[in-house]
Amino acid sequence: MIALITGITGQDGAYLASLLLDKGYDVHGIVRRTSSPNGVRLKEIADRVTLHSGDLSDAGSLRRIVGEVRPDEVYNLAAQSHVHASFDQPEYTADVTGAGVLRLLEAVKEIVPDARLYQASSSEMFGGMLATSPQHEATPFHPRSPYGCAKVFAHHATVNYRESYGLHASCGILFNHESPLRGEQFVTRKIARAAARIAAGRQHRVRLGNLDAKRDWGFAGDYVRAMWLMLQQDYPGDYVVATGETHTVREFAERAFARVGLDYERFVVVDSALYRPAEVDVLLGWPQKAKRLLGWEPEIGFAELVEMMVDAEVREVAHAEAA
Ligand code: NAP
Ligand code: GDD
Repeated sequence: MIALITGITGQDGAYLASLLLDKGYDVHGIVRRTSSPNGVRLKEIADRVTLHSGDLSDAGSLRRIVGEVRPDEVYNLAAQSHVHASFDQPEYTADVTGAGVLRLLEAVKEIVPDARLYQASSSEMFGGMLATSPQHEATPFHPRSPYGCAKVFAHHATVNYRESYGLHASCGILFNHESPLRGEQFVTRKIARAAARIAAGRQHRVRLGNLDAKRDWGFAGDYVRAMWLMLQQDYPGDYVVATGETHTVREFAERAFARVGLDYERFVVVDSALYRPAEVDVLLGWPQKAKRLLGWEPEIGFAELVEMMVDAEVREVAHAEAA
């Protein structure tokens, strides 16, 4: 089996590539050109994956790569994925996170119409749907950011290509999922890193935005398993993937600092510049469809996730000090 992963250099790309390699797949990934290649998350598996230079904003590169690789499965994980950044770069986000998906769908439809495709949809699409909680596959969308709007477009485009052209295309509506490989600008990694560095005397404070926002946080390693399971089904579909538990940013900080023996209140500074023009106050998922049809279950809970992330940062700090 041949898999093509866009966004292979990101958090989910790294976990998914490892999972597929373990299953015996020939794994290919699309990497965009940057001044300094981002290979840090792939360092353990770099010699076992084939990387191709392309970009979701460039239809020609997508067609070329899909034609060369001729994948059986395509996982579209690439995106401008930072919600706050999408307010600063709305048009770019719409182009990559939204229209980029259409470019990939076109390439798959024209070149490998029998391939199975996974689209990385997001709980951010539910946005302001507070009245309907927990959120499930039939919950209406109410995006609260340019990123959320782009993901809604990409989600509908994927469903439309499935209905119009019979593509085996599935959308995973994934709630927040984290890991030691999480990007440093997302709140969980930012907090875990700060807690470890402050405990080691390498940092004094951490500036955060809205501590009252609530998220349904799971472990990325569990969530990429759900992506793969979706493409093993006879029929394509859309699935919510979540833990069914929600916690505030404050709770995450409290636990993370407690893990290194500190009281978060002494080190967290609330900075209004880190608030968003519109916030998603609460996300809480209802993953019963994924559990029933895919047989998927999350294995790592909230407390274990916080500990895993903080412990990884503590090791990182110790490693840096030893070097
Ligand atoms: P991530 O760590 O930010 O990774 C994003 C990936 O997309 C990176 O490999 C990045 O490349 C690549 N990329 C960005 N712009 C690109 C472009 N123009 N062309 C080609 N590649 C491009 O994100 P993640 O957390 O792994 O999430 C994976 C996907 O799931 C994303 O689509 C995200 O929006 C979605 N999602 C994530 C979550 C979550 O909680 N993690 C929840 C729901 C949905 P560089 O390495 O060069 O930056
Ligand atoms: N990033 C960040 N930085 N967020 C902060 C901070 C801070 O300093 N302080 C508070 N927050 C709050 C945000 O306002 C938000 O309510 C919450 O922490 C989570 O922020 P992020 O970790 O940036 O994640 P997100 O929920 O906005 O988006 C992530 O999850 C989506 C799924 O719901 C991303 O991974 C998206 O790509 C994904 O689709």
